[in-house]
Amino acid sequence: RLLGSAGAAGAAGLVLGGAGGAAVHAATASEPGTALSTVGSSRVPFHGRHQAGILQPMQARGHLVAFDLVPGAGRREAAALLRRWSAVAERLMAGRPVGGGDTGVALDAGPSSLTVTFGFGASFFGRTGLTGRRPVELEPLPAFSADRLDARRSNGDLWVQIGADDALVAFHALRAVQKEAAGAAKVRWQMNGFNRAPGATAQPMTTRNLMGQVDGTGNPKPSEPDFDARVFVPAGGGRGGGGSGAQAWMAGGSYAVVRRIRMLLDDWEKLSLAKQEQVIGRRKADGAPLTGGTETTEPDLEKAGADGRPVIAADAHSRISAPEQNGGAAMLRRPFSYHDGIGPDGEPDAGLIFVAWQADPRRGFVPVQRKLDRGDALSPFIRHEASGLYAVPGGPAEGEYVGQRLLE
Ligand code: HEM
Repeated sequence: RLLGSAGAAGAAGLVLGGAGGAAVHAATASEPGTALSTVGSSRVPFHGRHQAGILQPMQARGHLVAFDLVPGAGRREAAALLRRWSAVAERLMAGRPVGGGDTGVALDAGPSSLTVTFGFGASFFGRTGLTGRRPVELEPLPAFSADRLDARRSNGDLWVQIGADDALVAFHALRAVQKEAAGAAKVRWQMNGFNRAPGATAQPMTTRNLMGQVDGTGNPKPSEPDFDARVFVPAGGGRGGGGSGAQAWMAGGSYAVVRRIRMLLDDWEKLSLAKQEQVIGRRKADGAPLTGGTETTEPDLEKAGADGRPVIAADAHSRISAPEQNGGAAMLRRPFSYHDGIGPDGEPDAGLIFVAWQADPRRGFVPVQRKLDRGDALSPFIRHEASGLYAVPGGPAEGEYVGQRLLE
């Protein structure tokens, strides 16, 4: 904790007073520019209009876990669990231990931008007798022709997303969340992911995925006037539709689409750089559109090359998925990369844990994936292996637990 909250000089001074071996480490850690102290001490508020873990920069480590309520557990047990989970998340996000029985794994670290985010899957509502309050936005995602989904790693009654800029802090939170679930819910699946660590690049940059592409450029930006309407459910609970009406308890919330997308890296890495860039329609080095400029230049989708063909190919991933090509359908992509060694097929079990946030998946992920599924240039190099859709309620007010407006 001291190293996490004190300035670099203060922390070094403290350790230098100790054993000689520690002093060597302290001298290394206090080199100018390492900024270790700010990574550890960065703290995200637990309370607010939206849950944490949606708008914050992607953290270096992530754990996604789905739980199913145990037989016999219903609404009362679920409410008690969300109350316990909220209390633990609030403490850990503030950098405090969980109290009696803390495992000690995060003891020396600050909160490291920890966020813990909670959501409900469609099956939760039947299990808790709340079917009448299930939002229509949560209707199951359609089956896509290229899906190769593993049901055991898909869906689930409850979903928790943990992110932190330190792997031990993230693991500590994961264990605390699992422990609080005992007797009420059991883990259905867990996925572990990562992103670039803060400070790895000289200045903040859009991250890269495991194909090496700059990934996230086209995301909606909070400064844009339609950002909130695209990402968050409005006051009153959204458009609803389908006769069931709006769900006021979802105000300030968002819908998370989670897809485990395997990258067929052995095939991808055989492509020339030029081919790889055509697949996306952007340059690999800096993410700029193939029609020129910098990463933030708008792509010119009309521009033709000397051969008369569009510079950004008709099947380029960034063309097909762009909101302008999909009636404005947009989502905030906030993924984690994953790598679980070599799969039984002898190829890397690696790819993207795609997490997309939107006010309504029927106007976000679904229409875009329908088009991509017809076969964009990226399709031969990826495989969707698991899927989930979760209603993530708005953030808790002081004294409230996450989901209280649904469960009380
Ligand atoms: C854009 C990669 C899957 C939706 C991009 C870009 C890259 C990329 C490199 C261009 C940079 C950017 O704007 O972020 C990937 C990879 C995927 C994947 C490697 C799978 C492993 C998906 C899926 C969807 C999607 C499943 C949604 C159904 C989008 C959207 C954009 C985008 C909306 C922004 C388009 C724009 O605004 O111009 N993707 N993508 N992507 N992708 Fe993907």
